Amino acid sequence: MTSNKVKELIKKGILPTSENIDKEVVVVKSKNKDLKSNLKIIKEFNYKPKKVEPKNFTEHYRERYKFMRNTLFSRPEAANSVSIEHLKSTYSREEQSIIAMVSDVIRLPTGTLKLTVEDLTGEIDLIISSKSEELIEKAQFLTLDETLIFKGRPSKDIMFVSEIIWPDIPETPIAKSPEEVYAIFSGDIHVGSNHFLPKQFKTFMDWFNGKVGNERQREIANKTKYFFIPGDLVDGVGIYPSQEKELIIKDLREQYNELAKYLKEIPDDKEVIICPGNHDTCVRLEEPQPQMYEYAEAIAELPNVTMVTNPSYTNIHAQDNYRGQDVLMYHGYSFDQLIDQVDGLRLAGGYEKAEEIHKFLLKRRHLSPTHNLNLTLPMKKDPHIIEKIPDIMVSGHIHKARIGNYKNTISISGSCWQSTTAFQEKVGHKPDPGMIPILNLQTRKANMLSFK
Ligand SMILES: [Fe+2]
Ligand SMILES: [Fe+2]
Repeated sequence: MTSNKVKELIKKGILPTSENIDKEVVVVKSKNKDLKSNLKIIKEFNYKPKKVEPKNFTEHYRERYKFMRNTLFSRPEAANSVSIEHLKSTYSREEQSIIAMVSDVIRLPTGTLKLTVEDLTGEIDLIISSKSEELIEKAQFLTLDETLIFKGRPSKDIMFVSEIIWPDIPETPIAKSPEEVYAIFSGDIHVGSNHFLPKQFKTFMDWFNGKVGNERQREIANKTKYFFIPGDLVDGVGIYPSQEKELIIKDLREQYNELAKYLKEIPDDKEVIICPGNHDTCVRLEEPQPQMYEYAEAIAELPNVTMVTNPSYTNIHAQDNYRGQDVLMYHGYSFDQLIDQVDGLRLAGGYEKAEEIHKFLLKRRHLSPTHNLNLTLPMKKDPHIIEKIPDIMVSGHIHKARIGNYKNTISISGSCWQSTTAFQEKVGHKPDPGMIPILNLQTRKANMLSFK
């Protein structure tokens, strides 16, 4: 840990530690204006780099399985569930249920699916018949390494599945703010790229700083106290071959310095909460990504900026008799592979429907369920597990602005400040630059602002 990093942690009220654990810390910052902001960091994930061994992954997956099993135990469908070892040893033909992790899915020529699943006692093959249309449709959303309840009838060493049940989230009680206050969400700024849109970004900043807009627009800007930036602040360096040709600023620190020129204009009474993304090459790509500091000093040292890990949980606007709203922020690097690998997500709209991706992840209580979606560090306590049900879930990465709601968790995908790149054009992505989701914490209604 660098001395700057230590200073940064102390500044944020976090006790620096080298222990390889996720931290539960609480930092409270309040500003003295009419409408006071209140930001707390609820949960961050800090990982001490060490030599990774296969046993670390085994432990990581065992712990993840245990969490999912405990979550699923609260479901009535899990009543009387048995272990795979027990199921195989009893030769019962009665309907049974197991809680198991998916390790393989094979589609047979008939359309029937053969799954291999495992728990801590062993593994078994499951059959989902092509005749069960409803089940086959549900199974389009299956992904490897996720844990579910499987109900069905065993026959020798296999089980014929009649129902599949995901961990899911219960409906969250709504937590409306007692006063009118707003949060905005916009990352993927990509400063340094020759596709960065400085004019539009400047107009957005001018609105946020109360310099432009009609009376109502200025009033809303004034009441916007929280600005979440879910990663990809800059384009970074060395992300892909010949990226240099598309960079207008080739030095990483200069890229952050350039963005700092915009962000430093934001009034002090507004909180700016920032996590890294895959283009923020000032930190590692492996998740959880740490809080940014080195190279991004000009931003990290701004008085109203709070750097958090990717992923992270914060709480905004809590007051006496009001618990505030919990925000889960995750950049979204796992989304590309998810869309590529999960038929159901592609059919539901893929990149066009970020809210479907959020719903998929909330149902799995996990931000990156399959091993190959991401470069994940094998922490004993899995940072991608959605243990706490958020009031607001925000991501970036796919450059599409979307607003959704799943069981009262408001789902927000921030757009970007970068026009269509050659790569995006080649793969058919159509980004939404300059679109800002804005959430009224009092009504819990979200809208889209447009800066063209
Ligand atoms: Fe991005
Ligand atoms: Fe990204």
